[in-house]
Order: sequence, then C-alpha cells, then structure tokens
Amino acid sequence: MKSKIFGALILVIFAGCSFADDLQFAPRNADSITMPPNNAVSQTMLAGNKLITFRSWLDIPYVTNPVEPEYQRLNIYVPEEYFHDQSINGYTAKTAPILLPNGVGGYMPGKQLIPANDYRHGTPNISLAGLAHGFVVVTPAIRGRTLENGKAPALIVDYKAAVRWLRHNKANLPAGDTEKIISDGLSAGGALSSLLGATGNAKEYEPYLQAIGAADERDDIFASVVYCPITDLDHADMPYEWIFNGVNTYHMGPEREMNDAQKKASDELKTMFPAYLNSLGFKDYKLDESGNGTFKDFIESLYIASAQSALDKGKNLNGLDWVEIRNNKVTGVDLNKYAVWVTRMKAAPAFDALDNKSFENNEFGDKHFTQYSFNHSTAENPSMADENIIKLMNPLNFIGKADTAKFWRIRHGANDRDTSLAVPAILALKLRDSGCEVDLAAPWGVPHDGNYDLEELFTWLDKICK
Ligand code: DHB
Repeated sequence: MKSKIFGALILVIFAGCSFADDLQFAPRNADSITMPPNNAVSQTMLAGNKLITFRSWLDIPYVTNPVEPEYQRLNIYVPEEYFHDQSINGYTAKTAPILLPNGVGGYMPGKQLIPANDYRHGTPNISLAGLAHGFVVVTPAIRGRTLENGKAPALIVDYKAAVRWLRHNKANLPAGDTEKIISDGLSAGGALSSLLGATGNAKEYEPYLQAIGAADERDDIFASVVYCPITDLDHADMPYEWIFNGVNTYHMGPEREMNDAQKKASDELKTMFPAYLNSLGFKDYKLDESGNGTFKDFIESLYIASAQSALDKGKNLNGLDWVEIRNNKVTGVDLNKYAVWVTRMKAAPAFDALDNKSFENNEFGDKHFTQYSFNHSTAENPSMADENIIKLMNPLNFIGKADTAKFWRIRHGANDRDTSLAVPAILALKLRDSGCEVDLAAPWGVPHDGNYDLEELFTWLDKICK
C-alpha cells in the first residue's frame, strides 16, 4: 500500500510540473475547433484514499476567432476506465455527465481548473472529485475584466462557446453525454454558472458568439451548481442594505466607517428593496413598505434551517444572540442582530459603488450599472453601462424565457456577507416559479466560498443524472 501511495505521489508531482508545461499553447490551427486526435496524456492522482487515472487533452481552442487566445481554450479530462469499456459509479463512456466547472473569481479571468488536491478544504478539488465520481470534466479558461477584451459580457459568451464546442465535437469526444452538461462556480463564478444555466440558446448573445467564432450549436445545459453567486448586480445593492442598514462599520480591508453619503445611500436603498422584490411577482413572497412580510419569513427560514442542522450535529449555539432556541429547536432568528454579528463587508452601495471603483464597476468598463448610483455618483464624468449589456449579465432576465436548465443547486454560506442571502433566494424563487427543481440552502458556519461539500454535491448530481 505504502509503495502505491508513494508511486502516486511521484506521479502527482510529475504531473504537476511536467505535462501542463509540455502542452501549453500547443500550436494548433485556430480555424479548427475540432477535437484533436489521440494526443492525450495520462495521469494518476490520489483523490482521498483512491488512485484515479485519467487522460487529459489540454489547451484546445474553443472558438475560431479568439480575442484572448490564452483564455479561450479548454481542457478535457476523462477517467481511464472509459477507454476499457468499464463503468464508474454506474456511468459509462456514453452516459457519463460532463462537469463544466469554471475558475472565475472577482470577475477576473478564470484559468482552467486542473484536477488537484485542494489544500484549503483538504479534499480533491471539483475537477478531481468529478473524475473520481465518473464524470467527464471539461474546464474552460474564461475571459475576465482585467483583459483588454474581457469586460461584460465576455465571461458568459466564453462559457457558452465552450458548451457549443462540446456539442460541435460530440461525435469525436472520447466520452461524455452532451445532454448532461453541468456548470459549477463560486462567487462571480457562481454568477456565471447561474447565467449559463438560465440563458440557454438566448438569441441576445448570438452576435457576441459569432464574433469570436463559436460553433453554431445549442448552448443550453442540464444543471447548474451555484455557490454564493454575486449576481442580479443591477439590483443587489438594495437587499444588501435591507440586511445591513444600521451597521455602519464595514470590513473591506481595514475596518472603516461609512461616510454620510454612504449612510444616506444605505437608508434609501433599503427602502427601495420592497418595491423591487414585489415587482418580481412572487405569489407567496412579498414585503411591506417597512421590509417585513413573507419574503423576510422565507429568508429567516433558511437561517433557521441552517442553525437547526448545526444544532442537530451537536454544535453549541449558546451565546449567539440572533438565534432563538427552545428545547433544542431553533424557533426564530433576528436578522438585525444577525447583521451586527456577521458584520458588514461592503459600504453602501455594495456593488455599484458611488465612486465607480468596485469590481463590478470595472466589469462594466468602469461604468455605473444602476440609476441610483449614476444619479449619486461621486466619480468624475460618470457614465452608465449599455443597458443591453447590463441585461445580458443578469440571469433573472432569462429564466423561463430562454432554455433554462431544469436542475439547480444553490448554496450561500450562513456567514457570507459578500452579497445578501436575498440574492440567491430570489434566483431560486424565480427558477421554482418557472418549473425548475431547486435545492437551496445556507450552510451553517460557511463564509464566502464554494465546492466545500463535494460528497453532498455528488450525491445530488447522481440523483438528477441517473
Ligand atoms: C467576488 C466577491 C465579491 O465580493 C464581489 O463583489 C465580486 C466577486 C468573488 O469572490 O468572485
């Protein structure tokens, strides 16, 4: 056993420093976006206590007219068993779902997510775990805001182009079912995963896809895995203040106090939220003018369920003044006290910053994307982003109108303050209203993070895929 592990370690080290370098930027004709023939490399890695052998195809261009060629390429990883007529976890070369995780964060360019052990969580990362569970793993690199050609809507255009590439090469793929494509991402990457899931085949993206030479194929997907999505950007400032109004210290970098303009923005955005929420037309979830009502009950119910599951696992929640417990049952949560306890991360407005200097302003080309912040801007010569581009960045505009994925798993940690829990909750409600199956939860103790519960995730994926 010892020698097996040692051998695997050598292979892992070898794989880590050698294969990727050998094949980086392999000179390949960008006019062709067909699956390259037999140039796969084989690797073996230890995933948990299991040795996983897989073949990799690296750096395949997925569009014919790349504007950022370093990014518009993907890797394919296929478990070795599928080359020997064997099955894994009930899947075969033909039926294996295709996991398409993205590595986008902070709306920055995202690199291919190479199978590896994730030392942060002490487990295999999503790509390696996918292989261990019998999935074909395809990891596109994706443009982001710091590239010359990487502003909105570049990231969703690239992700769609990768899906189209898979369908274009369906007959030549070594394995995988192109009707079972599953996106995955966290934070800005979670927003991206939700965009891909929501906007299948929406014609509004067509000119952008054509411009980069994406294949003329469908780009709808089967399921979306979404962690802490920084999404609904053009409305997310309001629910942030609905939660954090009254907490005036923020923790982006050093602890600071909001200034008077930011405090005023907090008060105003908070009072604007009920009208926005009610405009979404949820039959059973509404807010009155003061921000109370069934939607608030729904948000509280998510935190209550989270606290209850922690309690059931034996966690001691005594001393948390925002959680009300009677006879070992969580009977309520106080969102005002929660906001004080969890602390505010961002000054108001949290996304469309008054000084036009947030990640999201940068994503839109250093422009505002809400009327509120444009009207109250403190930037020199402020301007508004193109309304069509703002629209293309919001999955809510497409749910039920485009070919939206049927299955969704959405997670937002109970300690996450990068956006309000109301944001993923609204996404989930909108999806449910249009007939999607949505598994939504706010896991206890989890900050802004993703892919931390892979065993549960793959149990859910097996349920929807088999
Ligand atoms: C991310 C986090 C943020 O708080 C934000 O505003 C945008 C992106 C991220 O981690 O991807």
